[in-house]
Amino acid sequence: MSELYINGGKRLVGEVTINGAKNAAVAILPAALLVDGVSVIENLPYIDDVQKLKRAMEDLGAVATLEDKHTLTVDGSTLFTHKAVNEYVGHIRASYYLIGALLGRFKEAEVAMPGGCDFGGRPIDQHIKGFEALGATVTVEDGVIKAHAEKLVGTDIYLDVVSVGATINVMLAATLAEGTTTIENAAKEPHVVDVANFLNMMGANIKGAGTDVIRIKGVERLNGGRYSTIPDQIEAGTYMMAAAITGGDVYVRNIIPEHMYSVSLKMMEMGITIEEGDDYIHVVAPQKLKATNIKTLPHPGFPTDLQPQMATLLSIAEGTSTIIEGVWDNRFQYIDELKKTGADITVEGRTATVQGVPALHGTSVKATDLRAGAALVLAGLRATDGPMIISNVRFIDRGYEALEEKLTTLGADIIRKN
Ligand code: EPZ
Repeated sequence: MSELYINGGKRLVGEVTINGAKNAAVAILPAALLVDGVSVIENLPYIDDVQKLKRAMEDLGAVATLEDKHTLTVDGSTLFTHKAVNEYVGHIRASYYLIGALLGRFKEAEVAMPGGCDFGGRPIDQHIKGFEALGATVTVEDGVIKAHAEKLVGTDIYLDVVSVGATINVMLAATLAEGTTTIENAAKEPHVVDVANFLNMMGANIKGAGTDVIRIKGVERLNGGRYSTIPDQIEAGTYMMAAAITGGDVYVRNIIPEHMYSVSLKMMEMGITIEEGDDYIHVVAPQKLKATNIKTLPHPGFPTDLQPQMATLLSIAEGTSTIIEGVWDNRFQYIDELKKTGADITVEGRTATVQGVPALHGTSVKATDLRAGAALVLAGLRATDGPMIISNVRFIDRGYEALEEKLTTLGADIIRKN
């Protein structure tokens, strides 16, 4: 079992390049199964979730070949089964996209219940509502989701909650359906737009992605093509906060600054200087940060996937901050671990109150999920009193490529012990 050892207190200086977006990549790969030909997908992050999905797709018959570490060629024409019940599927959340993709392609799908981070309940009722509206019958038997349709026919679907997964999944299932599907109250996250752009590049007819109404006019077939995944908004935000927590001076490169607006503005409220370029953000942080309040919301609100990292940053800001988690029922499980480092945080329901402390100290902590792990890494970068030893690193590996290498280049003292 790997552990990360961080000797904190080093000011991060320099530049870091952000990889492709995990949550776009894990949707674009299943989308490639709708293509009756070869898709070449560039700028994929080299992370565990992508590798697991690649294995799951290979088991379905797709020929998936890494051209280089970040470029995958997927030949979807060789797909021979609609059953995705292998061990890789159950380990990742995004395997639910295989339902939409296989249903769209074969009008039939059998997919093991998805795994992924645990934030209390993670229902998929809105995905199922969408598939059923398109004409599918969906059942769950022995931990396997089974969907079947004689044919899929476009219709109007209103999502009762703004759901990234349901929006993308319905888009996948509707791409090859007969007629036009309208998704009302759709999620507007950058990765929703990225999946639509990928599908359109392959021959789909999807309009409105990035707004709350998406229209998908079914087409008969998707052809192959080449596509480059957008940069990872959450990885970028994590490094912006890593720079800030060390009073650092860091250029975060290869990003789309517009995707970072809510994060940049909140960091500016904390007294951090944010300078935007075409494809970078320059973060310069003072030693003392100011408290602020955040509420996580669907895009363009403050992203829930940066809530734990922001909690760490706020824990050393002067004053009292309030964090309201507006997306997940239970995304504060990591707080107990963070408190071991000296952070002063109380949680009541979906609200965390953070009383700023002058210092964090190194101790042994464990990552409880992916972004919780990132939050503890930030605490480690700041802590001065002994090393921060972080276990359960496998969670962090699910979503951050070359974390130690990137932080080391910026001047951090971080090593992995196996
Ligand atoms: C995606 O999860 C991301 N995962 C999550 O990132 C992210 O936290 C989340 O979107 C919100 O931005 C991937 O893209 C693989 P949702 P997803 O459906 O699609 C409720 C990370 O750290 N809901 O937008 O599963 C749900 O309970 C991960 O990278 C229903 O009620 O999230 C939640 O409260 C963690 N019924 C809210 O909607 C449904 O059918 C938003 O969930 C679906 C969702």
